[in-house]
Amino acid sequence: MKLAGKTVCVTGGAGFIGSALCRELILRGAKVIAFDTGTRANLRQIENDLEIVTADVRDLDSLREPIRKSQVVFHLAAIERRTACQRDFALALDVNVQGTANVLSLCSHVERLVFMSSTMVYGEPKYLPVDESHPLDGYEPYAVTKIAGESLCKAYHFLNGLPFAIVRGANTFGPQQGFDCLIPTMILQGLKRTIEVWTPDVVRDFLYVDDCVDALIKVAETEAAVSKHFTFRWDAHSTPLNLGQGHGTTIGELAGIISKYLHTTWVDVKKPPPVTSKIVGNIARISYLTGWKPKVSLEEGLRRTIEYYKAGGKG
Ligand SMILES: NC(=O)c1ccc[n+]([C@@H]2O[C@H](COP(=O)([O-])OP(=O)(O)OC[C@H]3O[C@@H](n4cnc5c(N)ncnc54)[C@H](O)[C@@H]3O)[C@@H](O)[C@H]2O)c1
Repeated sequence: MKLAGKTVCVTGGAGFIGSALCRELILRGAKVIAFDTGTRANLRQIENDLEIVTADVRDLDSLREPIRKSQVVFHLAAIERRTACQRDFALALDVNVQGTANVLSLCSHVERLVFMSSTMVYGEPKYLPVDESHPLDGYEPYAVTKIAGESLCKAYHFLNGLPFAIVRGANTFGPQQGFDCLIPTMILQGLKRTIEVWTPDVVRDFLYVDDCVDALIKVAETEAAVSKHFTFRWDAHSTPLNLGQGHGTTIGELAGIISKYLHTTWVDVKKPPPVTSKIVGNIARISYLTGWKPKVSLEEGLRRTIEYYKAGGKG
């Protein structure tokens, strides 16, 4: 199924990944509805080419019309920052869980629902790279809301045959990411002075935003990547799908690459590590099912991102 000509609703469409997804969907000929509570800044260049609905996923009524008109829904709206979910777990539950239930409850007619989850659902992995059958050991508030969102997709699939795909994203980066995220923070520091690194040994998988968007579209367009026929055996489903580069980088290595580009240095300020010390997803399944592979290396993605922020780009 091609998305060209389809009406596609992107919740969280004004966010970092959502706005990049909207831009690409427009280029590929879809009619796009961006649904978001947030500012339109990321959509300024394309605001005449899509419909923007400024509303909240917690408000079921405001979701009705945008989803009714859509054949495809990408559900990305969420409290995305792990620390924000920890600070206000009640809000995270409301937005990430009840908001997801609201979206799903209106999707009985859609041809595809793609839910953006996270590799954080695995918690501290028992082995690396983690494949999709690894237990869902995540216990941080953000991870728990994503596990709940995934379960809700299954429940609506059981209730009304919702055709859905779950994508478990790695750390995504690129232009227009919020200034409070890891890579923009490092770049902004490095533009002025030495980069302060909290946890150089922590391992993450970093994916450039264009590759993330390409994968989300490929998942929606690939029949084999979408669960359409109910079975009690979840291991017989194609979904969920890990998404990432498929290899890990330490935060120290990341700081090293950014420092080299910015002609600066980095220092270990020795703060306590986060709960998950190493996470790298195995991306064999998404590659096998959709033919998707990451095209932008970490170095090239960082170079593009640094150029963006150097030129005064906003987060
Ligand atoms: N960035 C990453 O590294 C990463 C990795 C894995 C998964 N994800 C997931 O991808 C999705 C997008 O992440 P992002 O990095 O673009 O984050 P983001 O914060 O830039 O985007 C999230 C968007 O959701 C919107 N939103 C929040 N609450 C809302 C509400 N109640 N109603 C409507 N909209 C609301 C925000 O305004 C924001 O524009 C999220 O679901 C996130 O959990 C992100």
